[in-house]
Order: sequence, then structure tokens, then C-alpha cells
Amino acid sequence: MDVELNGLRETALKRLGEVGDTRSLADWRVEYMGKKSAISTLSKQMGSLSAEDRPKFGQRMNEVRQALETAFAARQAELERIEQAKRLAAETIDVTLPGRRVPMGAIHPISRVIRDIEEVFLGMGFSIVDGPEVETDHYNFELLNLPKDHPARDMQDTFYLTEELLLRTHTSPMQVRTMERMRGEVPIKVIVPGRVYRRDEDDATHSHAFTQIEGLVVDRGVRMSDLKGTLETFAKALFGPNQQVRLRPSYFPFTEPSTEVDVICVHCQGDGCRVCKGTGWIEILGAGMVHPRVLDMSGYDSQVYSGFAFGMGPERIAMLKYGISDIRLMYQNDLRFLSQFTGV
Ligand code: PHE
Repeated sequence: MDVELNGLRETALKRLGEVGDTRSLADWRVEYMGKKSAISTLSKQMGSLSAEDRPKFGQRMNEVRQALETAFAARQAELERIEQAKRLAAETIDVTLPGRRVPMGAIHPISRVIRDIEEVFLGMGFSIVDGPEVETDHYNFELLNLPKDHPARDMQDTFYLTEELLLRTHTSPMQVRTMERMRGEVPIKVIVPGRVYRRDEDDATHSHAFTQIEGLVVDRGVRMSDLKGTLETFAKALFGPNQQVRLRPSYFPFTEPSTEVDVICVHCQGDGCRVCKGTGWIEILGAGMVHPRVLDMSGYDSQVYSGFAFGMGPERIAMLKYGISDIRLMYQNDLRFLSQFTGV
């Protein structure tokens, strides 16, 4: 039996040396140390030994078991270490690889300019209001002192939807809508950013759809100097503290007097260049004192109240501010153009 035990131990240890992974290690344990293993069978046969031999053999048996147990534990530790090392090698992440860049979005130059302008007027106590793009002939023209046969209607070639419905050609109908909503209350101080439409051929400076920001102030005793002061503050805030505005007489049917407003050329600071055609000035908006007939038609007695209004184009201002040479660039969503505004 002793010989058998020695042989058993040798085979078991030899096989243990050949075990290559933890799964076969578990099989080895069942085979050589489990209930049905040769050792278990031998220990069951111990009963047949003499009382004298039994303890001696029992001790031998325990030694062998102990030796196998120890060898098993050592092999297990070694295999686990090897397997973990393999796993770690397979899972290695190269932290020195450059990451994948997520492209930065940018605020569109038109939106940028609208936000800047809104900021300036909010600071002066104006509110921002919105109006419909599908408008009636009544609000877009009639109530702005432009009756059906008025020649000034030609200034704004119109997309008509029906006889009475159209796409608004300017944001000025919101002057009337705002006064109607305010029902004779003063003061009114609003700006109205929004999209407008005209039957123009698209070219470098014209688009059939573009943006305007309307402004309206109505109160008792509003004067032309209030208009000039407001626009001067606006121009300095948007283009820099050295800005000045210049008013030139003009004509709009819904303002009297009417004016076109220039700022010092942002390219040459007034010296005269190609952009300002040598004049040193650049036109940025149309404005005027709200026509008495418009006030009266909108429920404000022109004997008591007065007001000023202005309208400007954010596209034009964006073109001046950022040196954009073609208005169409702002509608084409070309990333090569738009990505230049990420830092703006
Ligand atoms: N509505 C005019 C335009 O589109 C601009 C304007 C607004 C002029 C308000 C005077 C007062 O051209």
C-alpha cells in the first residue's frame, strides 16, 4: 500500500505540473483529491490493515494529502498570476493615443448680431416682441400709410399668398400691432427681430428672405433727438466707443420726418475706402418719427403722443462687423464659413 501511495503521489504531482490553466486545475483536484480519487479509495481500504499498521499508514496518507494540497495551492496561485497577466496584457489601453476631437458648434453670425443688438436695447429698457411672418396687406401696408395704389409699395416687391395675405416685407407691421395691443398705454419701448421676404433676385447684397430688427418708442414728448441719442448709444455699444451716427433725410411713408442713419465706416474709421465708397460713412438703418396718421390709426392721438421707429438688417451689420463679402454665405450653411465664428 505504501508503494501504491508513493506512486500515486508521483503521478499526481507530475500531472499537476502539466496542468495549464485554472479550469483543468479544478479537474485535477477532483481526479486526485476528490471523493472518487485513488487516495479516497486507499483510505477506505485502511480498515483491512492491522491495528498496528493502521496509524502509520494513516500518517503517511496524511502526509501525501498535505503534500498534494500544498502543491495544489502553489500551482493555483501561479496559474492565477499567469492568467491575470494575460488578461491585463489583452486589456491594455494606450493612453498616449490622441483623442477624437468633437467639433465645436458656433453661433451663426446672424444670431450673434441679433443677440448683441438685443442685449444693447434690453439694457436701455426695451422689450423684445415677436410677430407673424404671414401678414395681411392691411398691417403690412395700409395701416403704415401705404394705401393700395401708393407708389412706395414698389420699394418692397411682395410675395402675395392671396389678395389679402402676404409674406411680410418688413417688420414695421409690428409697430401697429404693438400699439394696438398696448391700447393707448405708454411708454412703448420694443424691438422686434424677425424674418422678412421680398421678391428680389438673390445676389451678393440681396436675398429674398432676410432678417430685420424693428424698433418702436411711443410716449408723450418723444423727439428726434431721442431717436438720435438712442441710435448713438446703440452704435457705440455695437461698433465701439468712438462711433458716431449721421442722419440723412430720407423717405418712408410711415415716418415723418424720415431718415437714413450712417455710422463711421468700420473698415477705414472714416478715412474713406472701397467699402464706404470713399465717403467714410456707412448706412446701417432707416428710421424716423412715427407718422401722425400711423399713430392715429393705431389708437394713439398724434396731438398727445409722439414716437420714433427704426428698422435695421442684422445681415448687413454682420457683413460690416465680420467683413463678409456676400450675404448668400450666411444662408448656405457651409461649415468652412460657419466654423470661422466659433470664437465670436
Ligand atoms: N421698414 C423699413 C424698411 O424695411 C425700415 C424702417 C423701419 C424705416 C422703421 C423707418 C422706420 O425698409
